[in-house]
Amino acid sequence: MRLLATILFCSACLGGFSQSLPKYLDHTAPIEERVSDALRRMTLEEKVRMLHAQSKFSSAGVPRLGIPELWCADGPHGIRGEVFWDSWDNAGWTNDSCTAFPALTCLAATWRPELAREYGRAIGEEARYRGKDILLAPGVNMLRTPLNGRNFEYLGEDPFLASVMAVPYIQGVQSNNVAACLKHFALNNNEMNRNFSDVHVSDRALREIYLPAFKAGVQQGGAWAVMPSYNLFENRHACENPRLIKDILKKEWGFDGITVSDWGGVHDTDKVLDGGLDLEMGTGTDGLRADMNAYDTYHMANPYLERLRDGRAPEEELDDHVRRVLRTIFRTSMSPSHWKGRFTCPEHYATARRIGAEGIVLLKNNGALPISDKKKKILVVGENAVKMLTIGGGSSSLKAQKEVSPLEGLRNALGGKAEVDWERGYIGAGSVVYNNVKSKDYDLLSETRDSLRLVADALEKAKTADLVIFVGGLNKEDYQDCEDKDRISLNLPYGQDGLIEALAAVNPNVVVVNISGNPVAMPWADKVSAIVQDWYLGSEAGNSLADVLTGAVNPSGKLPFSVPYRLEDTPAWGERRYPGIKRAGSNIHDIHYDEDILIGYRWYDTKDIPVRFPFGYGLSYTGFDIGKPVVTRTADGYSLRVDVSNTGKMAGAETVQVYVSAPRQKGLLRERKKLVGFSKIDLAPGETRGVSIDIPFSSLAYYDEDTASERIVKGKYVFSVGSSSADLPHKITVKYD
Ligand code: GLC
Repeated sequence: MRLLATILFCSACLGGFSQSLPKYLDHTAPIEERVSDALRRMTLEEKVRMLHAQSKFSSAGVPRLGIPELWCADGPHGIRGEVFWDSWDNAGWTNDSCTAFPALTCLAATWRPELAREYGRAIGEEARYRGKDILLAPGVNMLRTPLNGRNFEYLGEDPFLASVMAVPYIQGVQSNNVAACLKHFALNNNEMNRNFSDVHVSDRALREIYLPAFKAGVQQGGAWAVMPSYNLFENRHACENPRLIKDILKKEWGFDGITVSDWGGVHDTDKVLDGGLDLEMGTGTDGLRADMNAYDTYHMANPYLERLRDGRAPEEELDDHVRRVLRTIFRTSMSPSHWKGRFTCPEHYATARRIGAEGIVLLKNNGALPISDKKKKILVVGENAVKMLTIGGGSSSLKAQKEVSPLEGLRNALGGKAEVDWERGYIGAGSVVYNNVKSKDYDLLSETRDSLRLVADALEKAKTADLVIFVGGLNKEDYQDCEDKDRISLNLPYGQDGLIEALAAVNPNVVVVNISGNPVAMPWADKVSAIVQDWYLGSEAGNSLADVLTGAVNPSGKLPFSVPYRLEDTPAWGERRYPGIKRAGSNIHDIHYDEDILIGYRWYDTKDIPVRFPFGYGLSYTGFDIGKPVVTRTADGYSLRVDVSNTGKMAGAETVQVYVSAPRQKGLLRERKKLVGFSKIDLAPGETRGVSIDIPFSSLAYYDEDTASERIVKGKYVFSVGSSSADLPHKITVKYD
């Protein structure tokens, strides 16, 4: 009886207590009711303070109401270490060394959406554990030019592949009550003059190429945040652009989250208020000054407050901005979930290692791989075999808890069975300190020999090696895959091309491992035994690479971009197209996307320009046979079914790709074909299984500028099915009427 009385008394108290709890604090209340309740309790000053930075990576909450501030963190590949409030240098904390996951080009190269979800969940756990509410990722800008310094942060040259891989990444991140922040919205396809490039592009190319991954991220991925970019579009900075932010993102797509400016992307008070941005970050100030709080000088700070007070700015717009910020807070730090995430746990390293290995692309193999047990003397040549690559590259640089280098990975895997020696071969940027983080290879790369001596030493050892593994590429230094510093050549830097040719001249078994986030010229491709496209793989880089080179993992990566022979062959070739033409009397560069919808393989295919390696290409250590597909029409599109067989002796995975070619229409530019579906399947030796790929009618559409809508032309469409954009043995014609 006493127990019952106690229970009744407690439930009465709790019941009573929850009724006295303000709605906005009641985790069980619908989020919009919490937002409205909080909003009505806030003063004008509290509302405005919520719409701009209060430190390098945070914006204000409402201390009086117990509403916390919002914390953002870079980046797409891991949670950036803490930086000082007034500089970009690392603050030297002792608890912020993270798991470095592979770069997003690697994730795209896996062509496995389930891995994108696993990736997003893991990195979201690390963000939650570090108390971050908004992860400034993923970047989904299209690879328009291979010179763009940030392509390693993005998902390649095809909007369909990027969309399919971005959506689960976003959902994975947000499963931790951390907001994913799609960036850089939009048309930020190069870094040169990034604050002053005014992009001129057709509505068709905008809608068919440059917006789809953002639209998918918002409408399918449910992204809670979007970051407008530095560049201009239609002569308005993207962070102050009403067409992008208000018309397309918020109104047309129904985006109910928060738009967070790129750091320093806001330039003008009236324009940013007209543009519809919600949160202003990084505007030219680095925090407190002796005389005042510099953050009060932000365009959406005191200047906004003045306009509100004298009636020049509508309060309903202010309230919409604040609602969006409150919604983000209630979705993240004040969500019902009290899950605190995980950080640098074995599962995260396992995820990084698996994605790294699965994203590596085998481009050529004359039998040198997987490494045979008979190879007892292995020489590894190249600075990238030891150089730290988790640092550098700009805002995605990380303070990683660990990074296994390719040399360490190979020694881990082969140490007992073969002698694995190393020669530097060339001098890249050398030992670096990045944002005051000293790279662990600092001493190893302190060099006394000159370039000639380095080459001579490498060649001397190569003459007697059973196998030479060259590990080079780019290295995220300035102009070598780096934010704000586009590449200046398609070729490898530091004399690597000559060194590779020289190695191939003295040893018939040279494997080239190119580490980069962009395609590179490969003039030596016919002279070496094997070529591997490797990526910036993060903490488990060396183990992922060793897994593939030794055959512990059968490579199954497929290129997310084309590898051209020459820069002149690329679609964005020529000053008008890139980097654009400087406007007289202004620092603005007008950059014209004259190639229109023909990005990447769409360009090379339609213009009949040969490439070194095509989009979607990648070899395996086993063989596959893709059978004859069967296509059936469904209520909302087509369903394609096809059997795949593993014809070799090793388990592996194949990605079946489906491209569609539209009927010709006079006066309407159409790409020769475009990717509309794919499916990756794991098969044991000798196994045959079917995959089915659904293709909605909308995949057949083009964007009709006259009606500002998607349109499907009646006629015959051809589905091409195969293992890469250049290997499509099966053609099926369907009639759309
Ligand atoms: C940088 C980048 C953006 C990053 C932000 C914060 O300039 O453009 O991707 O998230 O500023 O570091």
